[in-house]
Amino acid sequence: MKTVEDLVVKGTLKFAREPKDNPDNLDSSNYVIPLIEHDYPAKTPVMWNAVYNNLGLPTRNIMLVGNPGNLPDIFDIFRQDLKYLGGGAGVGFKDEAVRYLDEFEPIAKEIGAINFILKTNEGKLKGFNTDGIGYAQSLEEVFDQRKQVLRGKKVVVLGAGGASNAVAFALAERGAKLVILNRTIEKAENLVSKINNYFNLINDDQARFGSEDAIVEEVRDAEAIVNVSTKGSGELAGYSALAPVNLPSNEENIRKNLSQALEVIKTIPEHAIISDIVLGKELTPLLKSAKEAGFEILDGIPMVINQGVEAFWLLHQKELMEKGISKDEVAEIMRKAARS
Ligand code: ATR
Repeated sequence: MKTVEDLVVKGTLKFAREPKDNPDNLDSSNYVIPLIEHDYPAKTPVMWNAVYNNLGLPTRNIMLVGNPGNLPDIFDIFRQDLKYLGGGAGVGFKDEAVRYLDEFEPIAKEIGAINFILKTNEGKLKGFNTDGIGYAQSLEEVFDQRKQVLRGKKVVVLGAGGASNAVAFALAERGAKLVILNRTIEKAENLVSKINNYFNLINDDQARFGSEDAIVEEVRDAEAIVNVSTKGSGELAGYSALAPVNLPSNEENIRKNLSQALEVIKTIPEHAIISDIVLGKELTPLLKSAKEAGFEILDGIPMVINQGVEAFWLLHQKELMEKGISKDEVAEIMRKAARS
C-alpha cells in the first residue's frame, strides 16, 4: 500500500517552504494535507497545528506543493494512505480537484470548486467548499455585533467568477438578498439562475443580476458590498471595484477609475459594510477609500480564519464534541495563531 511519503520521495509533492513552522516530515500518526501550487506565506499549517497542540491531538497539518496535473496519482495515494484524513485545496487545485473526487457536498458541486477534501469512513474522497461560508460567517459576525442579522439584508456582490460563486451561494444560504454585478453580464445572470434554481427561488427576488453600469444605482441602498472580482489585486491592484477598469493599467486610467469610485462611495448608506476578499498586506483601493470615508470594512483575513474553522470542524467535529470543545474555541486558537 502506497503512502504520501512515496509521493514526496518521487518528487510529485514537496514540503512547502513557508510558513517556516510547516512540518518537514510525515511522522505524525495521521495528517491533514493542504495542497498548493506555489510556495506562498500561507498560515494554514500554523493555524491548524496550534489547535492540534492545544488540544493534544496527534494529527499534524502538513502543507505540500505540487502540480494539479498530477491529481489522479495524488488522489490515488490519498485514498490508500490510512494516515491521510483530508486537507485543503489551494488555487489551481480548487477546480481541478472536482474532476477526480468521489463525492461532493451538494453546494460544492453546484459551485464547481472545492477548497477542502475529507476522507470518508469508506475511504472515499469527498469535496467541500467552505470559502464562501468563511466570508458569510465573517459578515454575519459584523451584523451580530450590531445586534442585527444578515438574513434579508441587501448585499451587492461585485464579480461573478469562481470566488463569487462560493461567496454568493453561502450568502444566499444565509438568506441575504443578492445583487450580483459583473463586467460580463451573462456570467452574473448564470450565477443568479444557478442560485435561484438551487434554492428553489424562481419567483423570489433573493438574487438579481446586472452589469457594472448598475453599480451606481444598486449601492445606494446596499447594506453590504463585497468585492469578489479581481479588481484591486494582481494586475488590477490599483483599481477600485466600484468603477469600471480601463486598460492598460497606467496612471491616467487608474486615476479615472479612482475618481469615479470616489463619487460612487459618497452615495453608499453610511451603515453599509464594505468588504473585499483579497488577502494582502495592504488594503485594496476599495477598502482604503471606504475606510477613509468612515465605513466599517472587512478584509479577507476573517474569511480565511472562518473557512479554516469550518473545515476543521467538518473533520474533527466528533472528537471535539466528545472533548466538550466548541467551534468558537477552535476559532479563537486559530485567530491567535494567524496573528502570530
Ligand atoms: P476568481 O476565481 O478569483 O473569481 P475569475 O473566475 O477569473 O477569478 O473571476 C474574475 C472576476 O473578476 C470576474 O468577475 C471578472 O469579470 P468578467 O466575468 O467580466 O471577466 C472580474 N474581472 C477581471 N478583470 C476585470 C476587468 N478588467 N474589469 C472588470 N472586471 C474584471
